[in-house]
Amino acid sequence: MSFVERTCSCCGGENPEKTRIDAILAKYEGVKGALIPILQEVQSLYNYLPKDALEYVAAQTGTPIAQIYGVVTFYSQFHLNPRGRNIIRVCQGTACHVRGGKTILQALEKELDIKAGHTTDDLRFTLETVACIGACGLAPVMQVNEDTHGRLTPDKLKAILAKYQ
Ligand code: FES
Repeated sequence: MSFVERTCSCCGGENPEKTRIDAILAKYEGVKGALIPILQEVQSLYNYLPKDALEYVAAQTGTPIAQIYGVVTFYSQFHLNPRGRNIIRVCQGTACHVRGGKTILQALEKELDIKAGHTTDDLRFTLETVACIGACGLAPVMQVNEDTHGRLTPDKLKAILAKYQ
């Protein structure tokens, strides 16, 4: 069933996701160069860009779907796969690397049973690497959502992760 045909699971009315995307599209109607802000707002609804939402945006804006995929694959801010509720960014920059950043990454991969760049099946965590988050004095460092955790050791990770559900 297509995105547009789906109905609300509680009232049987119009798909509420479609209503929200319609509101975003209405906000940018007639605005030149609005594709990126539209995609940013659609992504903020889902935490990623579902295929059928992209197809809907393409149809409603008259933008070729290939052009939309060109944009979302070019910019690293866009994600085509579901992401976790909590985003872990483990620093692999020079300062963190020399202080054991790689060991922290490996410990997280083991703890979460996923590789960097992936999301746990329960959508609780997405594990990513970054080059430097500007907290080199606290190396090795990771961010979970907006929180920075520094001077990490593998044995601290379990307790930190437990704070994020
Ligand atoms: S290198 Fe890790 S915070 Fe700068």
